[in-house]
Amino acid sequence: MGKEQILEDAIGYVRALYEGNSDGHGLDHTMRVYHLAMKIADSEPGCDRRITALAALLHDADDPKLFSTEDNRNARSFLAEQGVSPEETERICAVINSVSFSKNGGRRLEDINAMIVQDADRLDAIGAIGIARTFAFGGKHGRGLDSSVQHFYDKLLRLKDMMNTEMAREMAEKRHRLMIEFLKEWDAETETAG
Ligand code: ADP
Ligand code: NI
Repeated sequence: MGKEQILEDAIGYVRALYEGNSDGHGLDHTMRVYHLAMKIADSEPGCDRRITALAALLHDADDPKLFSTEDNRNARSFLAEQGVSPEETERICAVINSVSFSKNGGRRLEDINAMIVQDADRLDAIGAIGIARTFAFGGKHGRGLDSSVQHFYDKLLRLKDMMNTEMAREMAEKRHRLMIEFLKEWDAETETAG
């Protein structure tokens, strides 16, 4: 059986939104976050898979770095077009808004669906993908390699201890170790002689 139609439509909607974006924030990031969220959801029986899935797919649809929309306008416009109830729309937008540190102010989450999407988004910032995204972001914003490396110490190395769910904590361990290994090699290769 295929994916629920609304999820297929959500993918098409965000694909159109992100057309042409290449700083690691495009459809590929959203699809990884969606698949990670579904994997985590498998081990969290208390979650609502439809809310989690839609929130994951729409989580960056109103990211202020890409869009100047207010009050989740892109996400809401898709959900309205799909006839999603106002109650469910509010739940999905609440999840989306609590995932981002800037909107949530770093508060601890209570909604399991939000915990899952936040973990998925954070997992995609670490590990091999995280390394690649960091340099893609740095390149796009005119930062040198050294300044991108600093981002690991400022943020990425902290993420493994900030996971909400057990499954994400386990996955983060492996990704974290790879970053540590990478930074060790980086230091060795960039060390000046003598
Ligand atoms: P998201 O909104 O998906 O949680 P961000 O917008 O914070 O992620 O960042 C997008 C990507 O760019 C991430 O991989 C992040 O680690 C990276 N990034 C963010 N800020 C910096 C920075 N100052 N230097 C290098 N990479 C960065
Ligand atoms: Ni994201």
